[in-house]
Amino acid sequence: MTVSRVNVDLGTRSYPVVVGHGVVGEIDSLLPKTAKRAVIVTQKEIGFVVKPKIDSTTVLIGNGEQHKNLQTIEMLSQKFAEIGLTRNDVVIGLGGGMVTDVAGFAAASWHRGTPVLHVSTSLVGMVDAAIGGKTGVNIDQGKNLVGAFWQPCAVVCDLDALKTLPEREMRCGLGEVAKYHFLTGDDLLALEMPQRIARCVEIKAKIVAADERESGGRALLNYGHTLAHALERSSNFSLAHGEAVAVGMIYAAHLAHAMQRISQARVEEHYKVIGQTYGLKVKPDERVNRKELIELMRHDKKAVSGLTFVLDGASGIEVVSGVSEKHLEQAFDAMQLSEK
Ligand SMILES: NC(=O)c1ccc[n+]([C@@H]2O[C@H](COP(=O)([O-])OP(=O)(O)OC[C@H]3O[C@@H](n4cnc5c(N)ncnc54)[C@H](O)[C@@H]3O)[C@@H](O)[C@H]2O)c1
Repeated sequence: MTVSRVNVDLGTRSYPVVVGHGVVGEIDSLLPKTAKRAVIVTQKEIGFVVKPKIDSTTVLIGNGEQHKNLQTIEMLSQKFAEIGLTRNDVVIGLGGGMVTDVAGFAAASWHRGTPVLHVSTSLVGMVDAAIGGKTGVNIDQGKNLVGAFWQPCAVVCDLDALKTLPEREMRCGLGEVAKYHFLTGDDLLALEMPQRIARCVEIKAKIVAADERESGGRALLNYGHTLAHALERSSNFSLAHGEAVAVGMIYAAHLAHAMQRISQARVEEHYKVIGQTYGLKVKPDERVNRKELIELMRHDKKAVSGLTFVLDGASGIEVVSGVSEKHLEQAFDAMQLSEK
């Protein structure tokens, strides 16, 4: 069976992302040579196991964004202390994006930086979250506001893990795949799943290698994410990340149209690709509170000079700052989002 190996090229901190069926069997060769013990951070719902040859202890964390917080980091740090984890050992994040973000941040802060290896078990994780070293947790004021850049030593994307992934979570992954569609124009759905995931990994690896700390091109990966993060929070996370990203890209298309950056035909193309081709929601099921969403978008990490979005335009997708509330309202109207 095909195994793809994509290198995330970051000089001395470069690492491989291994994609294929059964690749978790390679884990021992991917662990740091110094590691004598591992702490496996996971959730009880993850129907996939890793069995490294070195001593390992499994620590379970809660499921859902409400557990992606500083209390979970504190709990993990206390477990690391009890276990006697040292900076030469390794943390293994085994799960979807929530787990790898949390395990990554716990590892980044433990003894000011302990190696972490991610075994990604969701489609969102494999094509996006586990790669690139962004780690962090949420606070009441917003998503992922506390975190660190901390690159893993390797990422394992074993497609066997996807067998137990709920259908809705698979669709969420397609939300991130659709994002790469708009960033590159690639027909990703034409590829079989292992090749599709490997291609998404390649796209992300290239963007991360060119701009590790998001001072330029990496921000484009946030296409659809400004509204998505606000929707996730205001729905109390009943709308999942990938679903919110799909809706967020539709909103970004309307916003770009309201700002005369793209034609109506390009907006229609967003509906066709996201709604028909990828079969994703183009609107939240629930009514929204526009004022609350705008406030949340003001707190977005990208919003350093006013409301900031990643928007399509004549010269492609780019970061646009200082977006006016008038245009935000026009985009809400065009999407016919009913108010709470
Ligand atoms: N760091 C980054 O660059 C980055 C990028 C994108 C998203 N993210 C973050 O990733 C998270 C979203 O990732 P996600 O969609 O994977 O969410 P998630 O980790 O919450 O997983 C979604 C659900 O699927 C379950 N699950 C995962 N793998 C499973 C499996 N193999 N079998 C059965 N159940 C399984 C989880 O327990 C959970 O209930 C968000 O917190 C988001 O902020 C981070």
